[in-house]
Amino acid sequence: MERDIDRTLYSREQIERRVQEMAAEIAKVYHDAADDLVIVPVLTGSIIFVADLIRHLPFKMRIGLMTVSRYRGATTEGGATQILRDLTVDIKNRHVLVVDDILDTGNTLRAVSEQLMEREPASLRLCTLLRKPSKAPKDLTADFVGFDIDDVFVVGYGLDFNDHYRNWPDLAVLRPELYQ
Ligand code: IMP
Ligand code: MG
Repeated sequence: MERDIDRTLYSREQIERRVQEMAAEIAKVYHDAADDLVIVPVLTGSIIFVADLIRHLPFKMRIGLMTVSRYRGATTEGGATQILRDLTVDIKNRHVLVVDDILDTGNTLRAVSEQLMEREPASLRLCTLLRKPSKAPKDLTADFVGFDIDDVFVVGYGLDFNDHYRNWPDLAVLRPELYQ
């Protein structure tokens, strides 16, 4: 796996520090409503991020799972966002925090938000570890963002290429010849 990595974008130590800061921001925002929070990780890319993040949140919460797919194995754009598995908990009148790995074109988070809003949550906020500001649409605001990055294809810390590299502990860029 290591020989496929071109460079590290953020090391595991940098990620850990930023995730702790994000948890502190989130804890502040949900101060009054904390115990009623439902975390909705968008699978599969958010698994490692969400596991680290929630262990820094000092209140009770529920986790509602939902699986969404878009890239179907390629790094190129195209293909509608598909909800492969629907939410596992009731969110009506509860505060919802959607957690995703990366906000790229925003199609995924837009589709997920629209689905969830129909169920009348008390509030809905978006949290993403990475954001590509050059591509993210202006009308889709993430409430919590870990790192803004250039338009490069990132793997590791949950993010995949062809479902590989999710277990690489850093956020990294693959050698270009692997996907060009
Ligand atoms: P969006 O719908 O274009 O915002 O894309 C969001 C989804 O595409 C993310 O949840 C990721 O699963 C995937 N994705 C977008 N950019 C990258 C990347 O650089 N590396 C790995 N996955 C990515
Ligand atoms: Mg993905």
